[in-house]
Amino acid sequence: MSWTVFVTRQIPEEGLRILRESTEVRVNPANRVLSKEEIIQGVQGCQGLLCLLTDRIDEEVMETSGLRVISNYAMGYDNIDVEAATARGIMVTNTPVEGLAETPADFVFALLLSMARRVAEGDRCVREGRFVGWNPLLLLGADVWGKTIGIVGTGRIGTAVARRARGFGMRILCHDVVRRDELEKELGASYVSLDRLLAESDFVTLHVPLTPETAHLIGSGELSRMKETAYLINTSRGPVLDEEALAGALKSGVIAGAALDVYEWEPEVHPDLLSLENALLMPHMASASLGTRTEMAVAAAKNLLDGLKGDRPPFLVNPEVLLYRHGE
Ligand code: DGY
Repeated sequence: MSWTVFVTRQIPEEGLRILRESTEVRVNPANRVLSKEEIIQGVQGCQGLLCLLTDRIDEEVMETSGLRVISNYAMGYDNIDVEAATARGIMVTNTPVEGLAETPADFVFALLLSMARRVAEGDRCVREGRFVGWNPLLLLGADVWGKTIGIVGTGRIGTAVARRARGFGMRILCHDVVRRDELEKELGASYVSLDRLLAESDFVTLHVPLTPETAHLIGSGELSRMKETAYLINTSRGPVLDEEALAGALKSGVIAGAALDVYEWEPEVHPDLLSLENALLMPHMASASLGTRTEMAVAAAKNLLDGLKGDRPPFLVNPEVLLYRHGE
């Protein structure tokens, strides 16, 4: 059996090499996100699709192709209509590899420390020639050690953030629908209501998947419950946060600052945020280490191949599809 797979954008070579061993691989040659029409065209004659979080894979893509497996090069899969895929017997997979917990957690701390200690402002100060000597009052920031971190969503990334917070001597508050014993027992974290977490934390970091329940989880009401001195970090998905409300809160000093790696209308950024000194804005790069992006590419390739062979891929998002397939 020979398979053809379509890869919607260049990924680390190691993943493509694995695919090429047993499939014909077509890779989008353009270094940009493809339109829906281009994806539909690309998957014609393909049994496998390796796509990115920037590709919207809906019924239209599925019904015009003979896809058997959709392998998402990401942990989050809110870009795929999983229900529609299951109904068509198409496997959907993702890449929750080890690096996709640890590498984003490192980045959360990079953002947290940068905001608290005004790292980006310091860099701009030097480059713009405003550093004229040591000054006892220059760029005074907030301490991180001994402060309270509020982790909203305690899956793998939230847990990895908690471990780092422990190392910084922080008090850890958590909120999630499921409690993880290890966080309470090993890291001394406390699970509290979202309201209490917002009211007591000096740093609030969001780690929930995007679902209808988590869209705009944080809006003007939630922001107003935070301390005026508190900072917010979002590396999850943009629509979890009401960006308009955040821009207003940052302008009027409802909270001290925010660091965003993801945006509600990505890659668009709310124009008001661009001119705010207390917003730290990153281009969706929390998982961008060479090691982790390579690990993701390998996992995405293996998922795709296993699914094509009819085996259960390591990271299958819709296991119910197996029942459907057995009943075929
Ligand atoms: C994911 O995997 O969902 C991330 O957003 C990619 O960095």
